[in-house]
Formats: sequence, structure tokens, C-alpha cells
Amino acid sequence: MEKKETLDSSLKDIVSVCKRRGFVYPGSEIYGGLSNTFDYGPYGAELLHNLKRLWWKSFVHLREDVVGLDSSILLNPKVWEASGHVSNFNDPLIDCKNCKARIRADKFLEDHKGENAATGLTLEQMNEAIKVGNYPCPNCGNRGTFTEARDFNLMFQTSHGANAEDAQEIYLRPETAQGIFINFKNVVSTTRRKIPFGIAQIGKSFRNEIMARQFVFRTREFEQMEMEYFCEPGTQKEWFSHWVEYCMNWLTEQVGLRKENIRLREHEKEELSFYSEATSDIEYKYGFGWGELWGIASRTDYDLGQHEKFSGEDLKYHDQVNNKKYIPYVVEPALGLNRLFLATVTDAYAEEKLADGETRTVLRFSPKVAPVKVGVFPLMKKDGLPEMARKIYSELASLGSIEYDDGGAIGKRYRRQDEIGTPFCVTVDYDSLNDQTVTVRDRDSMNQERMPIQALKSHFANHIL
Ligand code: GAP
Repeated sequence: MEKKETLDSSLKDIVSVCKRRGFVYPGSEIYGGLSNTFDYGPYGAELLHNLKRLWWKSFVHLREDVVGLDSSILLNPKVWEASGHVSNFNDPLIDCKNCKARIRADKFLEDHKGENAATGLTLEQMNEAIKVGNYPCPNCGNRGTFTEARDFNLMFQTSHGANAEDAQEIYLRPETAQGIFINFKNVVSTTRRKIPFGIAQIGKSFRNEIMARQFVFRTREFEQMEMEYFCEPGTQKEWFSHWVEYCMNWLTEQVGLRKENIRLREHEKEELSFYSEATSDIEYKYGFGWGELWGIASRTDYDLGQHEKFSGEDLKYHDQVNNKKYIPYVVEPALGLNRLFLATVTDAYAEEKLADGETRTVLRFSPKVAPVKVGVFPLMKKDGLPEMARKIYSELASLGSIEYDDGGAIGKRYRRQDEIGTPFCVTVDYDSLNDQTVTVRDRDSMNQERMPIQALKSHFANHIL
């Protein structure tokens, strides 16, 4: 039995607004759910798409030195032998003999002894620390009833092929990165890219996490936005610094996250993944504390070297200008889309006391990522106001998701858009029929100004695009 996945109380408001307003639903809800799975509702899907579009624009379209890729989730299992995932992609697992809860030993120690308490410990050292600490099982409270810690491989297995007899055991990819490495040669030969250059892709990854938790922060199915930047050996330090800075700036300037909620944490030597010579995490201050958002790793020539060895293909790059052949080094910024989603909603969430004593919940998304860009309302459902509002709606539709709402008091309609995080609302009233102007209300200041209808599109486009 898996430990019941409880929601940290610090995430309660975020989970609640996400469910109430159609951002995130529990997975398979009408069948009693499936633990740790989530479905993104209409506003959640818009937010995810906006984040992906923004990332693709900054990491592919605006970069002359980066191209995109969309590789398969299912890969030849040899890929995972070569990459080291079959032998090394493990978490330490203990079971409670009393209640059968499965617990991640390193996180269990950290929960009791503090951040990084398990960094660099062997399985034996973890066993010793758990024994000495005599900590209670987080599920049943019993002490001293744990099995010895053992390695648990995080890759999901499935079979490939129509007949059970000849089906091949394969894995769902645990990272999108390997799809990029195995296409390095294809990209070089078909696009004539010169080093340094990057290959970026967005896609789903799967990890059978022992303790999936904290809402969408750690799930078994998630989406990654990864880029492998291939460079000449000896230049990786420079590129590492470049990408760390580029990613930090992207989060604040494009996504609009607040600087004080982001920090950079360099990995200790013992903490580094088996493929990395240096890693820094960009961490976000989630409701439950600081947690990894974006991992930036210097992966050396490990992956291409391994694939060359296991596949027998020559994966060296031929620098024709200097007449050199080498396996490129790689710097990899790897971002989790669902964690970015959680950071974006957390950063935007605010409860405000208003002058009239009421409290409003507002999601202060940057207009670039906001799921709905503009709400369009006719003041009344009659006298030609709905027709005029619908016309404005159609004119604005190419900017992104626009919402038409003609139900209920205007104040209630504004509040609803505040909770969805819509940055602007347009109200069509009786004056609009005479002077072709409308009221534009700003979500954050709640100020309202009169604006000609014909100026609306370019006014909003300046903020949104
Ligand atoms: N290719 C390198 C790689 O996959 P990682 O640090 O394991 O590195 C990159 O993953 C990012 O993917 C993390 O920083 C995190 O944002 C996201 N991520 C990893 N595991 C996740 C999980 N179980 N649930 C949600 N996001 C996850």
C-alpha cells in the first residue's frame, strides 16, 4: 500500500482555487479517482499552453542557435541501458512492515533531520540513520518496523507488440533528453547546424515516484521542456553560466514570477546525478517551502559517448573549419511544465481586502501567460448591447482566449474574471452605442477608463504578445 498522499495545508488555497475555477481536477474523479493523477480543465489547459508557447518562443524562435524536436515517448530499451537509467535511475525505498506503506528513505530522513540530511548517504548509512532516529512511520505511527532500504527503479515498464509471446519489454521515457541525444546526428546532417547549437523539445515523461506528492509538484506523469545545448569541450562553463542567467531572466521577465520567490542552488558534489559535472537548480518558494523548478546541468560528453558505445554509430561532430572531430559537451536546462504551472499560480495568488470590507481572490498572472486575456461584457442583455459585445469579442479573438459573459451583476462578473486571472475586462454600455467607446477595467488596480473600440486590439496586444 502506498502512503496516503496528503495535501500540504499550505497548498490548500491553491488547490481550492484550481478546482473551483476549472484549472485542475483530480484524475478519473467519477470513478473514485486515481491517486496522484490530475486533469487540467479549460483554464489550466490555456495556462499550460501559454507557458509552452512562451518557452518555445524564447528557447527556439528567438534563438538562431536552437532548433526544435518532437521525439517518441517509446524508445528502443537499449537507449536506457546506454544512458544509465536501467542501472542508476533509482530511489531508496523502505516499507513499513506494520502498515505496508512504501516510503522514500532519503525524503523520510530529510523530513525528520532537515534539508539535505540524506545527501550522499549509501543505503547502509540510511538504514543506520533510520534505526538510530527511531522515527515513526508517517502512515501508521509505528516505530522500528521498517525493512532495509533498497534501490527502486523509477522507470515505468510496458510491453510493445501485439502478441504477448513476442512483445518486447520497454519503458515509458523518464526524461525527454534521450530522444534529443539519439537524434543528434540526424539534426546535424539534415539542418547543417554548427556547434554551438541546441535542440529543444517539450513532452511528457513518466517516473514511478515512490512518494508522489504536493499536488502537481511531484507526479508520475508530467511534462518537461528540455534543451540540450551542444558545445565544444572546454566551453561548457561559459555556456552553463549563460543558460543559468537566461533561464532566471526568462522566469522574471517573461513569466512574471517575483524575484524574491526564486533562488539558485548549486548542487554539492555528492548530490550530482551520475551524468553531471555541475548542476544548479532554480528553486521556487512554493507554499510548502523551496523546491526545485528548473535543473541546469553540465552533462559533459557522457550521453553522446554512451550512445556511440552502445549503438556503434559515430556520433562525433566534425568541425570542418578547424579540422577537428570530437564528441560535444552538453549543457542542459531541464524545466518541469507542471512545476512551472504551480509556481505561476502560487506567485499570482492574492487575497485582498477591499474598501467595502469584502475580500477578493485574484490571480495576478502576467497578461502573457493569463489563461483568459480579456473578458467582454454587455451591461444588459438587451437593446443591441450583446450584439456589439459579440462583435468586439470576435475582433479580439486572435489575441488568445477571450471570454464573453452576459450573466449576473457586473460586479460579480468582474470578481469571476479576477479569480481566473483575466487582466482586462471590457464593458459595453448605452454610451457605447452612441460614441463607440467602452469601459476597460484593469484587474490589478481595478481602475476603469474609457477607450475607443477601434483602439482596443492594439492596446491589449501590447500587453499580451
Ligand atoms: N533531463 C534531465 C532531467 O530530467 P530532472 O531534474 O530529473 O532532470 C527536470 O528533471 C525537471 O523536471 C525538474 O526540475 C522538475 O521541474 C521536473 N520534474 C522531475 N520529476 C518530476 C515529477 N515527478 N513531477 C513533476 N515534475 C518533475
